[in-house]
Amino acid sequence: MSKIILSGVKPTGRPHIGNYFGAMKQFVDLQNKLASGDHNFIMIADYHGLNFIHDQATMRENTLNLAIDYLAIGIDPVKSTIFKQSDVSAHTELGWIFNTITTMPYLMRAHAFKDAEAKNKEISVGAFDYPMLMAADILLYNTDIVPVGQDQKQHVEYARDTALKFNHIFKTETFKLPDVLTIEGVAVVPGTDGQKMSKSYGNTIGLFATREEITKAVMGIVTDSGSDVPKNVYAMHRLLKSEAELAPLYEANKGKYKALKDALVEDIDAFIKPMRERREELARDIDKVHAVLAEGAIKARAQADMKLAEVKKVIGVL
Ligand code: ADP
Ligand code: TRP
Repeated sequence: MSKIILSGVKPTGRPHIGNYFGAMKQFVDLQNKLASGDHNFIMIADYHGLNFIHDQATMRENTLNLAIDYLAIGIDPVKSTIFKQSDVSAHTELGWIFNTITTMPYLMRAHAFKDAEAKNKEISVGAFDYPMLMAADILLYNTDIVPVGQDQKQHVEYARDTALKFNHIFKTETFKLPDVLTIEGVAVVPGTDGQKMSKSYGNTIGLFATREEITKAVMGIVTDSGSDVPKNVYAMHRLLKSEAELAPLYEANKGKYKALKDALVEDIDAFIKPMRERREELARDIDKVHAVLAEGAIKARAQADMKLAEVKKVIGVL
């Protein structure tokens, strides 16, 4: 049976290697294993991003950058549909329909909401309602698999629950239940300070970083003195090489943090360089990038509008 895969990233800043190894890498790996009849939808979640970015120029720039990033990591617009969420208005429309069958206490149990509340952050209605728009993103495409990072698992559960609830209330089988897919073994990529690598902590290594930027970040990795193996350096190294490949290096350089960091710089740069170069080339032809998004919007709309019409009939407005 054919498979439908859908995922997305918010255009809220430059991606880092945590985003790549935790989530984006899977987009490419899955794309390259598609069988005929399968579909891969890769979205720029700009309406989700709007909860965090209220500046026209930044929104435009981030969105275009993310489209280039997708292409640079190897998402192929011939094999996959790359599109912008805001180009397909069925998403917000279905999100609204889901709002009407969703309760406040249910949304209040979301980790993201609870974290924001614990930190006394001001929470927009859009951020509170984030899981319903995400459920719409997923369910409009009859998605089977949603590849995401660990911290997005709960959101996919919200999409499943919402599909079940809608089907139950309207006595229908309109929505298929999606499954989450996370990368085995890569739970959370640590940042240079040992905490979760995150745009908000300033502890990242950019996915398209230059050699100098990589060197600066790696030299700044916090090392726990007293042990032969610097934990944070090793954790990052493991993203790129197997235990067996690393064993001789770490054995030969016990306690020599500088030498191990130099080796890590070398390996990160070797991995990033081809993507960085591809990105530079893509950035020279912005018209082509816009054309990819325009074509993606047409393909995504065809599927989403069809599904929304089905939903509208079920709820009795069409
Ligand atoms: P950030 O924390 O940097 O703002 P996002 O929240 O935009 O990152 O996350 C985008 C995607 O990347 C999500 O699927 C998330 O699970 C994944 N991700 C982000 N940081 C990490 C990390 N340090 N390790 C693994 N996956 C991550
Ligand atoms: N919430 C996701 C993130 O922050 C982005 C996202 C929006 C998404 N809609 C989605 C991911 C649908 C997968 C499927 O990373």
